[in-house]
Parts: sequence; structure tokens; C-alpha cells
Amino acid sequence: MSSRRKIAAGNWKMNGLRQALSEVEALHVSNPAPECEVVICPPATLIRSMAKRCTEMAINVGGQDCHEDSSGAHTGDISAEMLADTGATHVILGHSERREAYGESDAQVRAKTKSAWTAGLIAIVCIGESLTHREAKNTLDIVGGQLAASVPDAATGENLVIAYEPIWAIGSGLTPTLDEIVEVHNFIRARLVRRFGDAIGKAVRVLYGGSMKPENAAEIGALPNVDGGLVGGASLKAADFSKIVAAL
Ligand code: PGA
Repeated sequence: MSSRRKIAAGNWKMNGLRQALSEVEALHVSNPAPECEVVICPPATLIRSMAKRCTEMAINVGGQDCHEDSSGAHTGDISAEMLADTGATHVILGHSERREAYGESDAQVRAKTKSAWTAGLIAIVCIGESLTHREAKNTLDIVGGQLAASVPDAATGENLVIAYEPIWAIGSGLTPTLDEIVEVHNFIRARLVRRFGDAIGKAVRVLYGGSMKPENAAEIGALPNVDGGLVGGASLKAADFSKIVAAL
């Protein structure tokens, strides 16, 4: 088996006021978590206070997006440098909700990823097919295309994490079959190895995302080439997220 350490990454999306920080304190994560890294990506407004609380808990904190420039006239945006300055170590990029709602292209995701790396952040780059694409049997084409175009050349096992998230599985309670997950994860691994070589291609962690919950985390997390999960809804409650971390 590989020596890739699992990751349980929580994506809080646009959820969480300051009082939600108590959920982080309630997380039962062994300190330090030896087999599973834990990352929580709260709204930007909570990064600073969460990062302060998490330093002793072996929990990393991340942003959910960043601008590709490090500063400038971009009203409402946040740069990777700002995320790092506020205590983040990771940033989710190219989430399907951003690709869909803001028309983010692969080229933009690639530029944002470069900017994240310049700021010293680990990029969690999301890719995944829509239901239409899956039904038309275009999943691997879509995922392969997004992977090629969204990830810059300077990827390493340390600066890049891929999250495979079928769009139709996000927030829907639906998940692909285990065989379908394995097919896509094996494909992503093969593409990473082909492009970056064995050492880097086999070191990049590939997470599954989309309706991961305590009930399915162990079986999904045990699949080959699945190195953990990007968890939305089930990361908001400490009790559920702790179970997912334990399962992974
Ligand atoms: P979900 O979201 O776990 O609520 O399906 C996952 C995600 O969007 O990252």
C-alpha cells in the first residue's frame, strides 16, 4: 500500500458564525492525528480565530477560494497571500459551486493554484463531472480535461491535493458506486503519474467528495487511490466529522 497519509478536509462553505468555532473545539481528533491529517476550510471571516484555536489540535485551516493576484483593485476578493497571512495553510480551488456560479474556468483555477503556491499554501483543486456528463459516459474525458488544464506544471506531492467531486453527488445524498469511484480515482492517479512521473504522481493525495458521511467514509476511504475526503455538510457538526476522521 502507499504511504500517502489520509486527509479529512471539511468545507464549511458559507456556513458558520463565531459561535460555530465551538464545533472545532468539540472535535475528537487525536493529537497529533497520526494516520489522518485534518483540514477545515471555514468562511474567510473565521480563519483567523479558527487557526488560533487549532494550533494545539493538529488541525489545519484553509480558505475556500482566492484571487489569482496577490493584491490589487479586486473589490470583495481575497488573495492567497492574505489567506496565508491570516493563518491558513490550505485553499480549496475550483470547487464546482464556484465553477458554476462564477463561471470559473480551468485557466483561472490554474492561475489561482499558482498564486496559492507562491503564497506557500497547499492547493486542494476540485474536479468532477455533472450528471449529464456521467449519463453521456463522458466522466473520464471531463475529469481528465479539468485535471490537465487546472493543475500547473510545478505540482508536487506536498503542494497539491486533488478532490474528485461528482457534481451530482454534492449535497444530494447520492454517491457513485464504489466501482465508479475506483475507476475515476485510478484514472486520476494514472494521469498524474503520466504527467508528473512516478514520484510526484504517486505522492499527490486524491480525495473523494460528495455526500461523504460517517456511514460511508470507511468504505470509500479504504478504496485504492482514495486518500481521504472533502466533506461539506457532514463537516459542520463535530460529532459527524469526528466519526469521518476516525473512519479514514
Ligand atoms: P457535501 O459537499 O459533502 O455536502 O456533499 C462536498 C463538497 O461540496 O465539497
